[in-house]
Amino acid sequence: MRTDAMVVHHSIAAWQEARRGADFAGSRIGFVPTMGALHAGHRALLDRAWTENDRVVLSIFVNPTQFNDPADLQKYPRPLEADLALAGEFATDVIVPAAGELYPDDYCFRVTEHGLTGELEGAHRPGHFDGVLTVVLKLLNLVQPHRSYFGEKDWQQLQLVRGMARTFFLPGEIVACPTVREDDGVALSSRNARLSAAGRARARMFPKILRESPDARVAAAALRETGFQVDYVEDRAGRRLGAVRVENVRLIDNVPL
Ligand code: PAJ
Repeated sequence: MRTDAMVVHHSIAAWQEARRGADFAGSRIGFVPTMGALHAGHRALLDRAWTENDRVVLSIFVNPTQFNDPADLQKYPRPLEADLALAGEFATDVIVPAAGELYPDDYCFRVTEHGLTGELEGAHRPGHFDGVLTVVLKLLNLVQPHRSYFGEKDWQQLQLVRGMARTFFLPGEIVACPTVREDDGVALSSRNARLSAAGRARARMFPKILRESPDARVAAAALRETGFQVDYVEDRAGRRLGAVRVENVRLIDNVPL
């Protein structure tokens, strides 16, 4: 646990000035990009970053360009005070930029990937990964971390960020962190809070069926029988990835095979 005060940077200019300053010189910098509404999954990333670096930078930015559904963007929770309270345990710096500042070009320049982006999540969320990759590139350039921490919960995002880092020769290491789950196996996500008690009880079956089915087709059928609408279930490179909807809430998960 850290004891010195955490600094919250509300503008990019303020952050850049701090980043050039003495506090960062010679420090190992860990970076955890998030959209806020922090939970134990984010906390695990921050905790790991804190054990491996001298300074931990957290970004909180609900990135509009990665929301293919405007209603989803509008509903996205923004509990900044609670987030800062949780962050205070691990982060030395928090960046909370405004959308206008991160997108001075109105999103004319963007990162587009033409392979994996069209599959799985990307096939169901057009433009989503362009938005993710673009904002992650901007944030990595602003923070210039030695290590950046991403959750395996968003497996495809992690692969795409790794691919971008490799392709554009980005310095710094991309560190993968295991999915944090509730006691009943449900992966932590800010979207879980939108489920009713019955929906939440059903959600428990999602990782269980992914894990226990002999193949992806059987898993998809079992999920449908349990009352989920299934966007996809696919087996890829030793993992089973899936996305389902229950009560209009979209859940994604993946498990090792
Ligand atoms: P967000 O959904 O806030 O997630 C931030 C980071 O926390 C991501 O790396 C995500 O994989 C990780 N994470 C979320 N839930 C987790 C869980 N249950 N266990 C482990 N890690 C978990 O992912 C994004 O934001 C955005 O796309 C972002 C990368 C910040 C770009 O806008």
